[in-house]
Amino acid sequence: MNAAPPPERASPAGREAPRSSVLVAERLTRRLEGEVPVTLVEEADVQIGRGEFVVIRGPSGSGKSSLLYLLGLLDRPTSGRLLLEGEDTSGFDEDRLADVRLAKLGFVFQFHFLLNEFSALDNVMMPMRRLGRLDADARRERGLRILRDLGLAGHEHKRPSQLSGGQRQRVAIARALANDPVIVLADEPTGALDTKSSGNVRDILRELASGQDRSIIAVTHDLHFASAADRQIEIVDGRIVPTGTMATLEAAAAAAKAAGTQTGAAPAS
Ligand SMILES: Nc1ncnc2c1ncn2[C@@H]1O[C@H](COP(=O)(O)OP(=O)(O)OP(=O)(O)O)[C@@H](O)[C@H]1O
Ligand SMILES: [Mg+2]
Repeated sequence: MNAAPPPERASPAGREAPRSSVLVAERLTRRLEGEVPVTLVEEADVQIGRGEFVVIRGPSGSGKSSLLYLLGLLDRPTSGRLLLEGEDTSGFDEDRLADVRLAKLGFVFQFHFLLNEFSALDNVMMPMRRLGRLDADARRERGLRILRDLGLAGHEHKRPSQLSGGQRQRVAIARALANDPVIVLADEPTGALDTKSSGNVRDILRELASGQDRSIIAVTHDLHFASAADRQIEIVDGRIVPTGTMATLEAAAAAAKAAGTQTGAAPAS
């Protein structure tokens, strides 16, 4: 049998064929006007290939979430433009943006944001109902299949509070997949999880890209998670910086910490 390699063995560098860009950001800038204007993201150029798994890294407050919200059409740029599947989204009104998000994008956040008064299955079927493409039977069948594929068979009728943190996050991923999105955007999806569940979520997202040809854009602080990605976008002070900048910053911070520790450990004179 010619089985595809398991997700953990999918090579991050093993994708030589050029991929069409599903998302293109050109000089994307987001400024907050006010007495003291704040620039959240400045002139970001980003291209995301179909089936590519990209992580966004950067120090706290560097603009990672702001960039992700722009890429996910949850926020609008003050200048620059964003093309989704070749279509310029600049002129879209709020309704159109909401429709595009519902049909083409899936979101996963650090905290699951599942509705606790509904079962896992109901939570997953909700975006399908809003989109209105499938009838009730098809929605149910699809919801059950997605949950089963994410290892949640037997948990479909539980409420979020009856699930573990890792299971809840998998339900949130299932909900993000409900309408068969071309891109899944995730903001620190493993930020609230233990090591084992984090690894599980990482492998699931890796497989969504490798096996299902979905694009994944994930903000993360988790180096283990980041190592599964095809590519890393690094952002510092709202600007995309050359890959490797974070490693340099982290090494400098570690050196400063070590020096501080030594100084602190020295006997007072
Ligand atoms: N509504 C706002 N008003 C003023 N400043 C804001 C606002 N939203 C974000 N910021 C600032 O913009 C910067 C970028 O914020 P953002 O949330 O994108 O950072 P981040 O990289 O996701 O940080 P973290 O890793 O802590 O989640 C931060 O300095 C933040 O304080
Ligand atoms: Mg953030």
